[in-house]
Amino acid sequence: MKLKVAVIPGDGIGPEIVAEARKVLDKTLSLFGHEIEYEELLLGGASIDAYGEPLTDETLEKAKKADAILMGSIGGDTNTSPWYKLPPQKRPEAGLLRLRKELNLFANLRPAILYPQLSAACPLKEELTRGGFDFVIVRELTGGLYFGNRSTTEENGEIKAVDTLVYTKSEIERVARRAFEIALLRNKKLISVDKANVLDSSRLWRKTVNEVADDYPDVSVEHILVDNCAMQLVKDPKHFDVVLTENMFGDILSDEASMITGSIGMLASASLNNTSFGLYEPSGGAAPDIAGCGIANPIAAILSAALLLRHSFKLEAEALAIEKAVRIVLEKGYRTKDIAFENNEMTVGTAKMGDLISCEVTQ
Ligand code: IPM
Ligand code: MN
Repeated sequence: MKLKVAVIPGDGIGPEIVAEARKVLDKTLSLFGHEIEYEELLLGGASIDAYGEPLTDETLEKAKKADAILMGSIGGDTNTSPWYKLPPQKRPEAGLLRLRKELNLFANLRPAILYPQLSAACPLKEELTRGGFDFVIVRELTGGLYFGNRSTTEENGEIKAVDTLVYTKSEIERVARRAFEIALLRNKKLISVDKANVLDSSRLWRKTVNEVADDYPDVSVEHILVDNCAMQLVKDPKHFDVVLTENMFGDILSDEASMITGSIGMLASASLNNTSFGLYEPSGGAAPDIAGCGIANPIAAILSAALLLRHSFKLEAEALAIEKAVRIVLEKGYRTKDIAFENNEMTVGTAKMGDLISCEVTQ
């Protein structure tokens, strides 16, 4: 098979971790007899520096022509980077949001897995996580507060800022369907997260999820409020299988989920539409504080490459080979700084971690 993949290294640690993901992808594909063609694209701050805007129309067209996109991260230090002196729609994040919207990537899958080998890096008490946990957050990605109308105005000498939270029934339905389909392939337990005790959009969310649930009698459905979900994630993470939620709640809960897997550097993600196209990126940010130091954890990017093989190319054996290689390297004791004990002798840098994982990929 020949894969056509657009690569967006992006900003901060993005280029470093994407290089490792490519290393592992190349190794895996050559081992399994496939070919891959990359096209590098600029997004976010890198695009602002080159073209004055975070996503150009040309880049968007090229992205649309690829089979899938492998991405690093975008953005900089919001306090110090000159990018954040630009108007909001010219900042790095605006490029990513437009890319998600234009490609209709409404379903964002964020698998949160605590590998038993990393239980020491998990801040929760051992008895809560014994044996590890494995759940996936399905975050709606093209609606809600991220894409509602915004304004900042002044009325009677008082400044007023407004963000609107809008969901249509069909937007909820399509992501809910996707989550139920995923639940069917897992433990058939779906938890839908909303704030139905306060928000109209959440009441529509809950009602719609219940309607979709009628088509999936084998999947059990539980609705929980987002504040309670935040609490349950640290109280009983093993309770979760598939977590379905709207855009902003998903953003917040997935950072929480990443922390209990040991580090935000472990959480991969796939953003999907109704075709096989997908954008694959770590859930974490650009980490400008450690950019260029060679210490960033490339595992989330490497696991995102595995998701790319699985979801966009149906190369399940190849995806599993990468995931297995990650487990083996962790089992052997190698750690990047974020998941290591202090003074751990098995602490390695970004490139070394990529080499180790790449070496363990077997057919
Ligand atoms: C994420 C990020 C983005 C988001 C930012 C960079 C716009 O935090 O993918 O979780 O909020 O969706
Ligand atoms: Mn986020």
